[in-house]
Amino acid sequence: MNIRLTIGDWDTQRSDAQMIRYEVFVVEQKVPLEMEWDEMDRECVHAVAYDAGKAVATGRLLPDGHIGRMAVVKAMRGQGVGGAVLQALMSEARKRGDPAVLLHAQSHAEQFYRRFGFVQEGEEFMEAGIPHITMRHAFR
Ligand SMILES: CC(C)(COP(=O)(O)OP(=O)(O)OC[C@H]1O[C@@H](n2cnc3c(N)ncnc32)[C@H](O)[C@@H]1OP(=O)(O)O)[C@@H](O)C(=O)NCCC(=O)NCCS
Repeated sequence: MNIRLTIGDWDTQRSDAQMIRYEVFVVEQKVPLEMEWDEMDRECVHAVAYDAGKAVATGRLLPDGHIGRMAVVKAMRGQGVGGAVLQALMSEARKRGDPAVLLHAQSHAEQFYRRFGFVQEGEEFMEAGIPHITMRHAFR
């Protein structure tokens, strides 16, 4: 596997990030289209991973340290690509001096985030019809 990771703003990452998020969240997970796109995309740092030139995974980091919209296309899951995207976003947050990163994890993905040092906070809740938990990784 030859993964290339890119980090950039919405203008540079938009077309590939949108394609992956549409496939994973809207088509596969049935998240309503109007909930998938928000005004925060313009404020975020976006990671996009490529396998042999094809965009296969994405995620975003908000100005307040939240990581979100983590998505790997189905055929590429379980091969470390999601972990690479998550670590790239965590590294961006650390570089700019954020004290911690946090996220609303889909409950089924808890173990994935735990692998990278995230710890659950509070109770499970529903978002876009999917069970979620808040998780945090403190840098200091
Ligand atoms: C969740 C998701 C981003 C993980 O990406 P991935 O590329 O499959 O994960 P990786 O291969 O990088 O996994 C990294 C580690 O987490 C573990 N892991 C990944 N998904 C897991 C899961 N659902 N349950 C338990 N462990 C998991 C892997 O076993 C691996 O551990 P290892 O390094 O010890 O082998 C991906 O499955 C996905 O896009 N799912 C659909 C969209 C979604 O639900 N996004 C999450 C929104 S919060």
